[in-house]
Amino acid sequence: MLNGNLVKLRAYDSTDNPQSIINISNNSDVLENLRGTIPYPFTYEDEVNFIKSNSSSKLTYNFAIEALDSKEYIGGCGINALDLLNSHCTVGIFIGAPYLNKGYGTDAMKVLVHFIFENISVNKIKLHVFSFNKRAIRSYEKCAFKTEAILRKEIFRHGEYHDDIIMSIFREDYYAQIL
Ligand SMILES: CC(C)(COP(=O)(O)OP(=O)(O)OC[C@H]1O[C@@H](n2cnc3c(N)ncnc32)[C@H](O)[C@@H]1OP(=O)(O)O)[C@@H](O)C(=O)NCCC(=O)NCCS
Repeated sequence: MLNGNLVKLRAYDSTDNPQSIINISNNSDVLENLRGTIPYPFTYEDEVNFIKSNSSSKLTYNFAIEALDSKEYIGGCGINALDLLNSHCTVGIFIGAPYLNKGYGTDAMKVLVHFIFENISVNKIKLHVFSFNKRAIRSYEKCAFKTEAILRKEIFRHGEYHDDIIMSIFREDYYAQIL
């Protein structure tokens, strides 16, 4: 059900090796693009707790991303916040360093967006991306996300303030595009 062309989204499970997840994620090319709630450096205990806490609740969903060809765990994605009262949600994604720029992230986001619009009654999916993260912005554009708002100088990285861009996709635009 949650298969794309390159990846599938699945639940984290007890066979996922926390150390191998750390090895692909504990990289500045990945972590500097994520919001500040993730510890750095990421420890074994952090990862064990992350996997344990990943039993999805009613308001969050967390998927492991697995490459279809190698069957390797390559990253994660999910819904970080779900507002059913107002029919929107916020998503997030990361791909491990060795797998960046190979199309996996765009494919995973397309699967996630499809899953959400097919299964959850939301009208809009949104995400935050830092202005310097050109690879992510391009990937989201390929999934038909559009810039909705810019929080100016919201993020402090490498001695400078950067904009936090909010991108979104609406249900009607998604179905107009895929049908
Ligand atoms: C964002 C992310 C999920 C995208 O997944 P990905 O598999 O790396 O991306 P893809 O290979 O599918 O697509 C990347 C696109 O960006 C382009 N790109 C890469 N670096 C770029 C740059 N510096 N400037 C502009 N475009 C760039 C690629 O050429 C490609 O576009 P194309 O197919 O038109 O050539 C992934 O890079 C990631 O997890 N990064 C680290 C963590 C992160 O940034 N998470 C998101 C936080 S908002």
